Amino acid sequence: MHIKIENAVKDYGLSRVLDIENIEFKKGIYVILGSNGSGKSTLISCVAGLNELSHGNIFYDGKKFDSAIRNSICIQIQNPYLFSKSSHENIVSGLKFRKTSREEIEKRFNKYKNYFEIEDLLNKKSWWLSGGERAKIALLRTAVLETEITLLDEPTAAMDIESSMRAENLIKDMARDNRTVILVTHDVYQAKRIANHVIFMDKGRIIEMGSREEVLNNPANKLVKQILNI
Ligand SMILES: Nc1ncnc2c1ncn2[C@@H]1O[C@H](COP(=O)(O)OP(=O)(O)OP(=O)(O)O)[C@@H](O)[C@H]1O
Ligand SMILES: [Mg+2]
Repeated sequence: MHIKIENAVKDYGLSRVLDIENIEFKKGIYVILGSNGSGKSTLISCVAGLNELSHGNIFYDGKKFDSAIRNSICIQIQNPYLFSKSSHENIVSGLKFRKTSREEIEKRFNKYKNYFEIEDLLNKKSWWLSGGERAKIALLRTAVLETEITLLDEPTAAMDIESSMRAENLIKDMARDNRTVILVTHDVYQAKRIANHVIFMDKGRIIEMGSREEVLNNPANKLVKQILNI
């Protein structure tokens, strides 16, 4: 799906937290970087239809958001909530909500569970899980949906390095077959490893965007250069 954002503005009272002229998302992994409060979560929540722009438009293959588009998009919000159930139940909860058949649920679960070493967690209730363990269950719950567009808000922030690497393999697979992943992270190394495209935000605006090589090796913006130590 081709997502096109035009003249997107989001205001909360008198403060403008998003002010974007133009971005397009096609296939592959788009990594969004930027300081705290720069509007990353606001932007992706608007793309997911969870939040409304104050002005401007988002087009999905040329159309406005509707229920068919909702079914093609999944967002994993920053600090996602797990249900008070087992990890296994949490992982398949989105599929059950989408009325997926029992066989398909089993198939997807088996396909994805081995991305992390979570065998011991599967029957544990979510309230016993550590922060990083919760993050793995949340990411699997998102991955099993296999939506065309997946929006991930700092999914590896609580994970150790080895688990983050495993998560990155999963995220790469989530962008296969012409699908799209939009990933918010503070980890520039993660962007270097898995991004196809990189977007830098500051104070609600896009200050740099382009291919991974363009943005991470040869940025034009002064602040981006400073952050990347170039
Ligand atoms: N419901 C709200 N009401 C008022 N202000 C809000 C609301 N939601 C977000 N904001 C403000 O909008 C700005 C952008 O927030 P956002 O969560 O998009 O930032 P972010 O780039 O995701 O930051 P972080 O890296 O800390 O997650 C912040 O200044 C925040 O305080
Ligand atoms: Mg955020």
